[in-house]
Amino acid sequence: MTLKFDLQPSPAPRGDAEREAILADPGFGQVFTDHMAVATWTAADGWGDSAVVPYGPFALDPASAVLHYAQEIFEGMKAYRRADGSIWLFRPEKNAERFAVSAHRLALPELPVEAFLESIEALVEADEAWVPSGGETSLYLRPFMFANEVFLGVRSSRRVQYCVIASPAGSYFSGGVAPVSIWISRDYTRAAPGGTGAAKCGGNYAASLLAQAEAAEQGCSQVLFTDAIERKWIDELGGMNVYLVTSNGELVTPELGTILEGVTRDAILQLCPELGLTPVERRVSLQEVLNGLKTGAITEIFACGTAAVITPIGELKDVDGQYRVGSGEAGEVTLGLRQALLDIQYGRREDTHGWTRRIR
Ligand code: COI
Repeated sequence: MTLKFDLQPSPAPRGDAEREAILADPGFGQVFTDHMAVATWTAADGWGDSAVVPYGPFALDPASAVLHYAQEIFEGMKAYRRADGSIWLFRPEKNAERFAVSAHRLALPELPVEAFLESIEALVEADEAWVPSGGETSLYLRPFMFANEVFLGVRSSRRVQYCVIASPAGSYFSGGVAPVSIWISRDYTRAAPGGTGAAKCGGNYAASLLAQAEAAEQGCSQVLFTDAIERKWIDELGGMNVYLVTSNGELVTPELGTILEGVTRDAILQLCPELGLTPVERRVSLQEVLNGLKTGAITEIFACGTAAVITPIGELKDVDGQYRVGSGEAGEVTLGLRQALLDIQYGRREDTHGWTRRIR
C-alpha cells in the first residue's frame, strides 16, 4: 500500500534571504522548514489524510493519549546535498523498517515502507531549497508518530498522527568533530530485556534525561549506560551507539538486544572490513573497557548515530575518576571511518553497498 503526499503549499514560506541566513549556520534541530508531511490512521479506516502541508502546530486535546501514556515513536535521517547540487538519502529503507519495528513494539500501526519513503521524498521535494550545501551540513528529517485518541483508558490508541518535519543541520555536538567526554551512569539504566530499548520511542530518551543532566554537570556531552540487570555490560549512550577500537584491529560494539539497531552502527559494521578492521558484535563489560584503556588494548572509542555521524570520545568519567581514551585526541581509525562514511553519503566515494538513493 502506498499513500500520496500531494503538496498544499505554504502561503507564507520564508524568504530567500532569511532562509540563506539560517542555512549559513544551521546548528542542530532549531529551525524548521516551510512544510511537513502528515497522515492519520484510525482503527476503523486505516491510513489516510496524507499530504505535505504548511509547517505548523497541532491542536491537541488535553486528553490525547500520547500526553498521558507516551505512545510515540520517531526516526532520524538526513538528506545530503552533493557538490553537483543533487540531493540524496542514505539507506532510507532501513529507517522505514525500523520505524515499523518501533511501531510494533509500541502497539502503534505500522506505516508501510513505501508510504514512509513517499512522505520523506515528498517533503524533501517541497523544501528542496532548505537542503544546505557545503561542509557536513544536511537536512535532518524527523518522522514521528503518536497516539492522539482522546481517551484516558490504558490501551493502544485508535487514532494516530504521523508526521515528518525537517530541519537544516550542522554538527550535533557544538564542538563538531572534537572529542567529547562521556559520563558513565552508575545510578540509572536505559533499557531492560523485554523493554523498549531496541525501539526508537520518546520514552527511552525521556528516561535518559536525568542521567544526561548529571553528565552535563560533570562537563560531559553524553551518558554511557550499563545493562539493567548486572550493571556490568555497556549498553549505549543517551542518544547514540558506541564502538571500541582495539589494538589488534577489531572494531567492537555491544550486541543487539536492548540497544537501538543504529543505521550508522550497521553501516560501520559493513564498512570496516574495507578499512582492514574486523567487526565484532558482542557483550562488552565496563571493566573490560576501563582495563583496556589502561593497558592500551583499547585505543579509541567513538559514538555513532545519524545526528552524531561518528564522534570521537576523548575521555570517560565516573564517580571514581577519569579515564583518558588513547591520547585524548581523535584517533586515526575513528577519523578514517568517519571520512569513509561521509564520502559515501556525499558521493565522494563509490557506494559499493547501494546505500544511497538520489531523490532530486
Ligand atoms: C539520530 O541520530 O538521528 C537520533 O535520533 C539521535 C538523537 C538526536 C535523538
